Amino acid sequence: MECNLAVIKGDGIGPEVVTEAIKVLDAVGKKYDHTFHYEEILMGGCSIDATGVPLTDEAVAVAKSKDAVLLGSIGGNTATSPWYKLPPDRRPEAGLLKIRKELGLFANLRPAYLYEELKGACPLKKEIADQGFDMMIMRELTGGLYFGERKTEEIGGVMTAVDTLVYNENEIRRIAKKGFDIAMKRRKKVTSVDKANVLDSSRLWRKIVEETAKDYPEVTYEHMLVDNCAMQLVKDPAQFDVVLTENMFGDILSDEASMITGSIGMLASASLNETKFGMYEPSGGSAPDIAGQNKANPIATILSAAMMLRYTFDLDTEADAVEQAVRQVLKDGYRTSDIASSGTKTVSCSEMGSLIAERIL
Ligand code: IPM
Ligand code: MG
Repeated sequence: MECNLAVIKGDGIGPEVVTEAIKVLDAVGKKYDHTFHYEEILMGGCSIDATGVPLTDEAVAVAKSKDAVLLGSIGGNTATSPWYKLPPDRRPEAGLLKIRKELGLFANLRPAYLYEELKGACPLKKEIADQGFDMMIMRELTGGLYFGERKTEEIGGVMTAVDTLVYNENEIRRIAKKGFDIAMKRRKKVTSVDKANVLDSSRLWRKIVEETAKDYPEVTYEHMLVDNCAMQLVKDPAQFDVVLTENMFGDILSDEASMITGSIGMLASASLNETKFGMYEPSGGSAPDIAGQNKANPIATILSAAMMLRYTFDLDTEADAVEQAVRQVLKDGYRTSDIASSGTKTVSCSEMGSLIAERIL
């Protein structure tokens, strides 16, 4: 198969981790007779430096012309980087929000899975970690608070800022359907997370999820308030299968879920539209503190590439091979420093990529 990818290396550790994902994709290509073509585009701080804006329309057009986008990470140190002196719509993150919107990537899948080998790196109590967990956070990605109108103004001499949280029923229905569809391929349970005791948008969310659930009689579903969910994630993460939620709640809960897997460097993600097109990126950030030191964990990006094989190209065997190679490398005792523990062998970002590529069978 010929696979055409736009590649956004981005900022911070982005270039390092994307290089390793490409190494693994090329190993898959060699083994299974596929060719991956890569065209690099700029987004984030590197784009600001080169073009003055975090994402050009030309870059969006290139992305749209491909089958999928592979993304590293964007942004810098928010306290010290000059990018954060720019107006909000010119900062690196604005590029990410723009590409999600332009490509219609409304469904963000963030699987959080505790590997047997990483139980020691899980910050939860041993009794909880021992039970393991395997959940899929389904985050709505192009609506809600991050896309509503916002402004800051002085009202009667008092500085006042407003952000708006808007959802219409169609936006809720399409993500709910995706959530239930994914649940059908997993353990058939959906936990829909909202704040319906306070927010109107959440009450509409609940109503539409209930309507959608009627089409999926095999799926058990429940509603959970977001504050309770944050607590349940550290108390009993094994209870979750698909966690279906709106944009900001999903942003926050997915970071929490990633942390209990041992490291944010382990969490892959896929952002999908109505077609097979997707953008694939690690859930973690650009980690400017360790950028350029060859010590980032590339596993989340490599697992994101596996999600690309599965969701965009329908190459399940190849995706399984990548996931299996990651499992094997962990079994063989190799760790990047973020997940290292006593008795394991600490390797660099590029060594980790090579070790995984060698294990593609
Ligand atoms: C994420 C990130 C982004 C988000 C930021 C960088 C805008 O935190 O992908 O989770 O909030 O969506
Ligand atoms: Mg986030």
